Formats: sequence, C-alpha cells, structure tokens
Amino acid sequence: MLKASSRALVPFVSVDNMMRLVHHIGVETFIADLARNITEDFAKWDQFDKTPRVGSHSDVGVIELMPTSDGVLYGFKYVNGHPKNMGEGLQTVTAFGVLSDVYSGYPRLLTEMTLLTALRTAAMTAVATKHLAAPGASTMAMIGNGAQSEFQCLAVKAVCGISHVRLYDLDPAATAKCARNLEGLGLQVTQCTTPEEAIEGAQVITTATADKDMQTILTDNMVGAGVHINAIGGDCPGKTELHRDIVARSSIFVEYPPQTRIEGEIQQMPADHPVTELWQVITGQTQGRKSAAEVTLFDGVGFAIEDFSALRYVHDRIKDTPYYVDLDLIADPDDPRDLFGMLKRAR
Ligand SMILES: NC(=O)c1ccc[n+]([C@@H]2O[C@H](COP(=O)([O-])OP(=O)(O)OC[C@H]3O[C@@H](n4cnc5c(N)ncnc54)[C@H](O)[C@@H]3O)[C@@H](O)[C@H]2O)c1
Repeated sequence: MLKASSRALVPFVSVDNMMRLVHHIGVETFIADLARNITEDFAKWDQFDKTPRVGSHSDVGVIELMPTSDGVLYGFKYVNGHPKNMGEGLQTVTAFGVLSDVYSGYPRLLTEMTLLTALRTAAMTAVATKHLAAPGASTMAMIGNGAQSEFQCLAVKAVCGISHVRLYDLDPAATAKCARNLEGLGLQVTQCTTPEEAIEGAQVITTATADKDMQTILTDNMVGAGVHINAIGGDCPGKTELHRDIVARSSIFVEYPPQTRIEGEIQQMPADHPVTELWQVITGQTQGRKSAAEVTLFDGVGFAIEDFSALRYVHDRIKDTPYYVDLDLIADPDDPRDLFGMLKRAR
C-alpha cells in the first residue's frame, strides 16, 4: 500500500474528539470564544460571499448546505432539520462541515458539526442578546428544552451575565432533563409548567422549539415592554414561533435579510417590512435598542458566516492537540497529471 503524502491528509474532528476539545477548553469559554469569532466575522461583513442556504425540503424535514468565503478561507456546513426525528430516537438537527483554503481549494478541516452547531447557535444568540437586551438583564425564559436549550442557557450566562433561567417545554420530561443538565453549572434554574409562568420577570425570552408548522409559542399579550426575544426555532419556510402581532410591534434584527425573509419570523410580514442587520449594530453603524420600553426581536435562523466562524475556531484550536486524526482524503499524486498512474501503481 502506498503511503499518503502529507498534502493528502486533512484533519478530521470526530464527535468524540469534539467533546474532548470542548472539555479541554471548557464549555463556557468555548462558547465565549465562538461569540468573539462571530463578532469579528460580522464586523467584516462586506468581505464575505453571501447566499441564502440551499435547502432541499421534504414533507418531514429539510437538508441544507450553507457555504461562505472571506476570500482566504471557504467553509460549508451540511445540516438537516427533522422535527419528527426526536420521536424516533434521532436528533432533530445533525451536521458536519468543511473549511478549505481558497488559494489551492484543498480542504483544511473536516469536522462534526452537530455539537458545534448547538455551540455556535448559542454563541450567536448571546451576541444578539448582548447587543440588544436591556442593560442589567439577569433572567431568561428558555422555551423549548430540547437539544439546543442547555447551550443557550450557558451562552447567555457566559456572554451576557444572565444568572437565572426559567424553563418551559410542552414535554415536562424535556424541562426536567434540561434542569438536571444545568445542575452545578452556576445558574439559578426554575422549572415552569406554562409559558406564562416561564416568562414571569424575564428580561430575555428565547424560543427554541421544533415543529414543522407555524406555531404560536408566544402571543402578543405575553410580551411586556422592554423585553428582548430570541426566536431561534423558526428557521424554515412555513415554520415560525411567534404570533404575527409580536413581530409587528418589535424592532427586528436579523442575520442576512434575503435568507431570513424566507425562513424567519418575518416570513409572516410583507417583503419590505423594516429590519436591521445585526452586523450594522455590531460595527456601531446603527443603534440597537433605542429605549427601555422597546421590544427587540432577534429573528435568528442561522447563517453560514456563523458556521465559518466556528470552523476557523476549531481549525485554530486543534493545532498541537491530540483532538483530531488525519484523514487520507485528497488524491495527491506526485505528478499532478498522473492520477491514473497513482491508481495503477496501487495494485
Ligand atoms: N436558528 C438557528 O441557528 C438554529 C440552529 C439549530 C437549530 N435550530 C432550530 O431550533 C429548534 C430546536 O432545535 P433542537 O435541536 O433543540 O430540537 P429538539 O427537537 O431537540 O427540541 C425541541 C423541543 O421543543 C419542544 N416543543 C415543541 N413545540 C413546543 C411548544 N409549542 N411549546 C414548548 N415546547 C415545544 C419539544 O418538546 C422539544 O423538547 C429546531 O426547530 C431547529 O431547527 C435553529
């Protein structure tokens, strides 16, 4: 058997190694670092190739590709969203991704992204909350206590100083699971039995529920003045979480409008409904929250640049660690024109 040249090898981070890497760094530090990378990348927004993700929809879910490049590196994520999976003992969301060198086109990293998506989604929510929530916000209602939920709670603790989370899920077993997982991690946790109870006294409300349809997780009368909402779970055409009236009276902040108008809460609104792009708030070009009474809404659907930020973080952090293996992924013959000769000599 011929030995692969070093140029053929691509670092691969398995789920097992991702978990080791996260524990090595510490989950809150990891999320805070991702939040910093996302902030840096959003601040150079103009340098990125941007396109709404490419989705292949079926009656039961969606499979999507999310590409972007800053001209030096190129990244893409494969991700699915299948709300019915949970009932069949499968994850709603699974993902993997690739980071490549734009100059040669050679991949530089192949990694699991199911865990990394939960971490980066939480980091993105924390970035939005930091820029939009009322100063001094200390309590968050977390509605939908599935796979994303603990990451969301830890992210706002690490990045925004939230100290108390109030949990609600249609399924009390999900709430109990989330509360159990958050034990000993420095958050005050309250398990609630209705969404109304969960939002009591919360300055921040995050919804991360999974359903294929238009849902009304929050109705207009539930949302008081000055609240910041992160609506994370509605991220597909035909899939929303908020009553239209809440969307109508909120100041809305989005990642990339051409994608959010198709997938976000604002799919309920006219195509020209005013929104602010979050990168403009991050760079200080536009003000975020303008008054204490304003209801701010981060209509988060998940954009490719956030995955790019996460991919380049993992690429940087695995250097000189045991948390990856080299995969013989790229055919790299000594003579670039002699691909067939390489095959022939391998017999
Ligand atoms: N915006 C993003 O970047 C992003 C990233 C990842 C996932 N998501 C989306 O976030 C959602 C949650 O993902 P997950 O992996 O945690 O899913 P999950 O299936 O593990 O958990 C979803 C939870 O929502 C609960 N739920 C459903 N309807 C509810 C309702 N009406 N009220 C209260 N709880 C309800 C379910 O019981 C379940 O516990 C999905 O829709 C997913 O597509 C968004």
